[in-house]
Amino acid sequence: MYRTHTNGELRLSHAGQTVTLAGWVQTVRKFGSITFVDLRDRYGITQLLFGEELNKELESQPLGREFVIQVSGAVSERTNKNPNIPTGDIEILVSNFTILNKSAVPPFTIQDDTDGGDDLRMKYRYLDLRRNAVRKNLELRYAVNRAARNYLHNQGFMDIETPFLIKSTPEGARDFVVPSRMNPGQFYALPQSPQTFKQLLMVSGYDRYYQIVKCFRDEDLRADRQPEFTQIDCEMAFVEQEDILNMFEGLVKTIFKDVKHIDYTETVQRMTWEEAMWTYGNDKPDIRFGMQLCNLKFPGHTFPGRKNIAELINGADFKVFDEAETVIAIAAPGCSEYTRKQTDELTEWVKRPQIGMKGLVFIKCNADGSFKSSADKFYSEEKLKAIAEATGAKAGDLVLILAGAEERTRKATSELRLELGKRLGFRKDDEFKLLWVLDFPLFEYDEEGNRWVARHHPFTSPKPSDIDTMISNDPSIPNAAEYLKHPYAGIRANAYDMVLNGNEIGGGSIRIYQRELQEKMFAALGMDEEEQQHKFGFLLGAFEYGAPPHGGIAFGFDRLCSILGGSESIRDFIAFPKNNSGRDVMLDAPAAIDNKQFDELQIRLDLKGE
Ligand code: AMO
Repeated sequence: MYRTHTNGELRLSHAGQTVTLAGWVQTVRKFGSITFVDLRDRYGITQLLFGEELNKELESQPLGREFVIQVSGAVSERTNKNPNIPTGDIEILVSNFTILNKSAVPPFTIQDDTDGGDDLRMKYRYLDLRRNAVRKNLELRYAVNRAARNYLHNQGFMDIETPFLIKSTPEGARDFVVPSRMNPGQFYALPQSPQTFKQLLMVSGYDRYYQIVKCFRDEDLRADRQPEFTQIDCEMAFVEQEDILNMFEGLVKTIFKDVKHIDYTETVQRMTWEEAMWTYGNDKPDIRFGMQLCNLKFPGHTFPGRKNIAELINGADFKVFDEAETVIAIAAPGCSEYTRKQTDELTEWVKRPQIGMKGLVFIKCNADGSFKSSADKFYSEEKLKAIAEATGAKAGDLVLILAGAEERTRKATSELRLELGKRLGFRKDDEFKLLWVLDFPLFEYDEEGNRWVARHHPFTSPKPSDIDTMISNDPSIPNAAEYLKHPYAGIRANAYDMVLNGNEIGGGSIRIYQRELQEKMFAALGMDEEEQQHKFGFLLGAFEYGAPPHGGIAFGFDRLCSILGGSESIRDFIAFPKNNSGRDVMLDAPAAIDNKQFDELQIRLDLKGE
């Protein structure tokens, strides 16, 4: 037997017992004729005391960091207790030890505050995984996994695996492809999600399906995106949107409870996509704090029916506002005393290329009731007061105003709001706010490809009230020009996203389940009959054999874990992640393959551009 206990287990109550432990040497501290060693495993750290006699043995068999050793000895009460670790009351008086394996000097220290940079830790990920911080993340991930499985199992969901070697699934990214040796010249695609399979399972009658499953997407990477990531993928038959929202609020609340011990009793807020864009400039608003957008001026077609209050700012000969398509303000609470240096810094912040604005206008709502502005020259104090009041600013607040083209200004104001929210401490890691964003547009215009694409995916059902518009507009939204003028109006989808603290943690929709409507949808996306048949003949066929009404959702499992763990990077919650260039630096993948493999695949490599 290698060990009787783990290194996190022994307490004062074990004093006097003889135990055997095994683990990794964290530190070796020599004090004259005795040596202390901290022994580590994934359960904790136990202090070992090598007395005089064994100390001599250590001279001929020295221990080094990360050596794997086995020790036996008596548990004894420590004179110098360490209240910071659970085993801090005891130590082991070692009576014998064995070096099970030596270790080279590790390239970085295996400690909470390691000296290893990102790249180095990625290269030696198996060592990084020994660190507490990373281990805790993986433990949290496993806890979320268990909570999700328990909940879904209790609700009658069945875990059914679906294949990885498939044909393209359109989720908006590029596919990773795999050549087929047995079918030369042909390729499988790795699934961007199990979308079509879970719908087929509904046709097959498995009316509550789930899977915690890998998805593969060749897209630009960010802190919250990996080329292979995991979804909690779910689908239900005989449901309406309301059933899905309730079921999956339940899932997330259970995860909060089981993993974070948080009773999320409040009702999950809901907001239409249009409301989110109008009040937060963003389809995944962080509602932990207010600072909502005040739309002073905007082109009438973007939010039909909403009120322009441009008279507040127009006609003052202030070109920045007069010539702008859109002017949006937010009020930063308690910031009226910002110095020139601070407002200059904020101006520089919005001018950064990522934000792309030309400048920032301020109104200080002073505590004494006066108003001061960087646009004093153009506006009377009375006008400044009226603008400030429109934003909901109070005495002591700072109003920040951005002006420019609609989309960019809306996005920039949203970014500025989030940045200020962070700086002002409104975005706390330990506060969780859920939100459903509903009624997304069904389509969006892809400027690059100059065509309409499905905003969620092509299997998403239009809102029943909008189906007639869609069907009558045969073949491919002939009112596209009209629609383009109304990017915020148009046909809405029965689609929903779940947002947690400003992050999209899940998205889904009620699906189309009639062949005719599905064909209309494909046609609207520019697919002729032949292409429809070639790409999705199997699904259209299945819809002819009794497809039930159905809908579902998929949660970004890695994302959910990282938010629960208070980190911005999903990499920290994946055992073996890729870096931002999509590389596994430990394996050094992707890599070239042998000529023999090319021969077997009957493929000749002829890289363009070489
Ligand atoms: P969607 O594409 O919205 O929906 O994906 C669902 C959730 O997966 C997460 N996610 C990602 N996480 C990490 N890295 C990525 N590259 C990445 N891409 C997406 C997000 C997102 O909310 N089949 C549909 C679901 C459905 O309709 O049921 C789908 O995949 O958190």
